[in-house]
Order: sequence, then C-alpha cells, then structure tokens
Amino acid sequence: MSDTMTREQANELLHKYVKGENYITHSYAVEAIMRALARRLDPEREEFWACCGLLHDLDEETANWRVDFASHGPVSCQILRDNGFEIPEMEEAIKAHNPICGKVAKTTLELALLAADPMSGFVKAVAQIYPDKKVASVKPKSIRKRFKETRFAAGANRQYMMAIEEVGIPFDDFAEIALQAMVEIADEIGL
Ligand SMILES: [Fe+2]
Repeated sequence: MSDTMTREQANELLHKYVKGENYITHSYAVEAIMRALARRLDPEREEFWACCGLLHDLDEETANWRVDFASHGPVSCQILRDNGFEIPEMEEAIKAHNPICGKVAKTTLELALLAADPMSGFVKAVAQIYPDKKVASVKPKSIRKRFKETRFAAGANRQYMMAIEEVGIPFDDFAEIALQAMVEIADEIGL
C-alpha cells in the first residue's frame, strides 16, 4: 500500500474508473478549484489537494449511488485501496464531500472539497446563461446574485458552498477564486 500519490497516478485512476465526459470535466474543474484554494490555505500541499479534487467522484460510475447514495464516497475509498493506495486523509475528504455517507467535514481540506464540488457546477450553470456559454464571460457579481436565487441551479447545495467560510474565505472571494480557476482550464473542460 502506498500512502502517497502523484497527480499523474490520480489522473490515471480517474480515467480507469470514470468514462463519462461530464464526470471527467467536472473532476478537472473541482481539481482546479482545489488547487486555487490550496494556494491560499495549504500552499505546500497543492498537489495533494489537487488529487483529492480529481478523485472525489472516483466511484461515480461504480457505486450504486442511485439506490444507495451513502455508498458514494466509501466506494471511492475501496477503489483506492484496491489499487494499492491507502491515504486516510484523502479517504476522509472524499467521504466528507458526501455527508449522506455519515462523515462530517471538519478539516480545512474536507470543508474546501465540500464547498468546491457544488461550486464547480454552480459556476458552470451561471455560464450557461450567457450567449456564448463561456466561463470567461461570467462576472463574479452574477455568481453572487444567482447564489441568492434558491431556484437557480437548485441542485448546487448552498449550505455546502458556504462551508468555505468556516475556513476563513468569504463566499464572495470563493466565487472569484473558483471562477478564475475554471477560466484557466476552460478549454480543457469545454467551458
Ligand atoms: Fe463532484
């Protein structure tokens, strides 16, 4: 068992278990946001944060989450172990991004991942409003505005997104950080 992982290994694992284009681009978006957050919160461990972002939905196509949503997270951890990785901090963060599985986000990393996951989808949803549907067109102000509209992108959990304030980043800053991170990889994620 290895207790470390490179970004290359994480990317290989992602592609081994996840084939859907939308899931792949979502994973890259969350990775980018996690990198940007790491630069502020845990700069020496940016690669590790990136790997956690990249692999948070590793079981998306393996777990039977439509029937048992609590399996989303624990199954990813099992996949990691099946592939020779035993990294408890990563496992806890992956589980904590789906509180339904029983793990409560507490550490900075866990709270950041909990918030980054819905934020990536939310930024994407805001981009869809613009004629060119590009994240580069999105203004941080419209993220803030849409956030208050509970019916807009209702699937993006506002409470989880607000968890970012527990690690000392105001929501408005988070919106800008996430947007910028996604703009930087816009071509790669088709946005
Ligand atoms: Fe996700």
